[in-house]
Amino acid sequence: MDLYEYQARDVFEKYGVPVLAGIVADTPEEVKAAAEKIGGVVVVKAQVKTGGRGKAGGVKVAKTPDEAYEAAKAILGLDIKGHVVKRVMVAQGARIAEEFYFSVLLDRANRSYLSLCSVEGGMEIEQLAVEKPEALARVEVNPLTGIDKDKAVEIARAANFPEDLVEKVSDVFVKLYDVYKGEDATLVEVNPLVRTEDGDIIALDGKVTLDDNASEIRHPEHEALEDKDAADPLEAKAKASGLNYVKLDGEVGIIGNGAGLVMSTLDVVAYAGENHNGVKPANFLDIGGGASAEVMAAGLDVILGDPQVKSVFVNVFGGITACDAVANGIKGALETLGDTASKPLVVRLDGNRVDEGRAILADYAHPLVTLAATMDEGADKAAELANA
Ligand SMILES: Nc1ncnc2c1ncn2[C@@H]1O[C@H](COP(=O)(O)OP(=O)(O)OP(=O)(O)O)[C@@H](O)[C@H]1O
Ligand SMILES: [Mg+2]
Repeated sequence: MDLYEYQARDVFEKYGVPVLAGIVADTPEEVKAAAEKIGGVVVVKAQVKTGGRGKAGGVKVAKTPDEAYEAAKAILGLDIKGHVVKRVMVAQGARIAEEFYFSVLLDRANRSYLSLCSVEGGMEIEQLAVEKPEALARVEVNPLTGIDKDKAVEIARAANFPEDLVEKVSDVFVKLYDVYKGEDATLVEVNPLVRTEDGDIIALDGKVTLDDNASEIRHPEHEALEDKDAADPLEAKAKASGLNYVKLDGEVGIIGNGAGLVMSTLDVVAYAGENHNGVKPANFLDIGGGASAEVMAAGLDVILGDPQVKSVFVNVFGGITACDAVANGIKGALETLGDTASKPLVVRLDGNRVDEGRAILADYAHPLVTLAATMDEGADKAAELANA
């Protein structure tokens, strides 16, 4: 999960990273009040989970509360790369002398952590990496030892910080690593990290990505950071039912048990779709080992709620949960859903107690259900129905 800047700011503050006052606001009136409270020059900043806010007109300096009000009017409702601004942060204005860049992230390719750092901050780091790669230090960080004071000094020197700043910035790097480690983040980025005219080092912007795998047990408090309104409504619904669902943009809904089987089903359906006007899978949905009527109903309910779905392919391999239980699950789900289940279902069952499972569905003879003998046949049939 990516955090909004204001959430990153709050987390930074908790870990002692130097930040300036910041107040979130949803209306120009609230922005004006926040600017009055903070006092002096403020910066009104769009809170959206995308980069390049400044360039898009989403970051404005305001010298007075009235100017802040006007800035808020201009920023709220702005569309920044498809993200509509619903909230801004009113930040205390800094008198910037220099802008730097710092980040620490999970380096999957090298199974390690990596710190990127530059004395040329402010501009987009992707651009710096291409145009002036020599100005961007890349320092590997051993996950077992992390960024302690020595490592932080090494990073600062690698990035060519002047010697009189090394001490001060390296203290901040250590604290930013505390955030990374303490919150189980996969990215902590500060662009710009600034030196003010008074000589203070301050994080003026923050991007934090939290590792969702750590949320349930290690960080139950992270749930409160989630922006439930912004999530895809179908994905949110699936999550509430404990389903592993990812929305895609095709027409064939997919339900399977086991991530591997579901992924192969996506491939097979995409391949079959080539013969049927290019229809594609509409989602990934792994209902796991259980495949009970409730889980099947919850899964079907989510998939049928996708207006793009034209047909559904249920591809289940009976293991510990035998095919007859799955067949009863499908039957129960169709009964639970009643008229909501309005799209054709192709069902392929195999594995443990397959004959019993098929017999149950054959006897049930629901008009929307077609039985397929093999995965290829099922995929082809589902693609054909989606194109009908
Ligand atoms: N509190 C502040 N006081 C003074 N200047 C600021 C403040 N916050 C931001 N700025 C200035 O605005 C510039 C852009 O701000 P910021 O980095 O937060 O947004 P951005 O880089 O445009 O967006 P993103 O980081 O999402 O791409 C900064 O480089 C800095 O010069
Ligand atoms: Mg920035």
